[in-house]
Amino acid sequence: MSDRLVSAPARLAAFGMYVPQRVLTNADFERMFETSDEWIVQRTGIRTRHVVAEHEFSSHLAIGAIDDLLAHHPQVALGDVDYLIVNTTTPDYAYPSVAAMLQAHYDLPKSVGALDIATACAGFAYGINLACGLIASGECDRVLAIAADSLTRSVDYTDRSTAVLFGDGAGVALVERSASPQIFGMSHGSDGTGGRFLYRTGVRTEINGEIDESRQLRQNGREVYRWVLENVPNDIARILRRADVTLEQIDWFVPHSANQRMIEALCKRIGFPIERTLLSVADYGNTSAVSIPLALIPAVRDGRVKPGERVLIMGFGGGLVTSGCVAVL
Ligand code: ACO
Repeated sequence: MSDRLVSAPARLAAFGMYVPQRVLTNADFERMFETSDEWIVQRTGIRTRHVVAEHEFSSHLAIGAIDDLLAHHPQVALGDVDYLIVNTTTPDYAYPSVAAMLQAHYDLPKSVGALDIATACAGFAYGINLACGLIASGECDRVLAIAADSLTRSVDYTDRSTAVLFGDGAGVALVERSASPQIFGMSHGSDGTGGRFLYRTGVRTEINGEIDESRQLRQNGREVYRWVLENVPNDIARILRRADVTLEQIDWFVPHSANQRMIEALCKRIGFPIERTLLSVADYGNTSAVSIPLALIPAVRDGRVKPGERVLIMGFGGGLVTSGCVAVL
């Protein structure tokens, strides 16, 4: 991928977020297996996570987030949206897609594009970047980039090294055509050789020379940790070059909130202050692609992120894949 300057005549015009009601605390895990609040907080920074109820699926979480967007931005008319992009690795069904289910739920025009993508924890940035392309081509004026996941449905609650990490939720950004570019440096990366460190089997159950019919999330945490610290700084550098800005010109860093300790190490490595980094991991755990909106949206709403500030969004996860951009809010 070249270092050409990249921008789109688009902006992040509105946001919504949603988490299910049920909360799992570290004390709950202390009752399930041998662990401690101290171990979990020290290694991950996680204190609570929200978990779907039996009857709640990723489509319901996505609807919760879109309803929240409409409640906070009454001027938005869903009927004007041209395209729905839903990132999820836990769709209700293989098909119909969650995006098509949303078209039906909101009775949107049948001309709406409806696309599910499965770019794991990189998905919020992936959705925004794809939306930018749809807008830049002239095909669309308004795209909803949605991330919705109920990862806890695929968590093995007998494996203490992954069980404590994950939570559920949804987030949405309305990506809208704007007179001048407000989103820059869109960039992606992939390294399929690392896929074996973080997977969930599907119709194919053989992986790493073994059969895994559990269809549960499996992770080699140490390898993923190492991979992130080795690779993500290069991706960030590429995004900044393509956006024609330096790290000093970034007001807020919003990385995938996988693990507090890992993000602190990442900030140290790239030389960015942790105080200007927005995280959601303490309250929500690792919510895959939803972790970025769960960190960004409260900060926009409570005034920490001010209009005109530059935000570096950086997702990374299963694949292994990365995706990011710089947005002026
Ligand atoms: N409670 C207590 N002890 C535990 C727990 C737990 N919940 N989990 C593991 N341990 C123990 C292990 O059994 C092991 O004990 P041993 O030394 O007696 O064998 C010890 O702690 C160390 O285990 P590791 O797995 O090596 O622990 P580590 O320090 O690497 O921490 C963790 C594990 C938190 C998963 C870490 O590797 C990590 O955060 N990795 C990054 C994972 C990540 O962020 N993935 C997401 C990125 S992509 C995405 O979001 C999908």
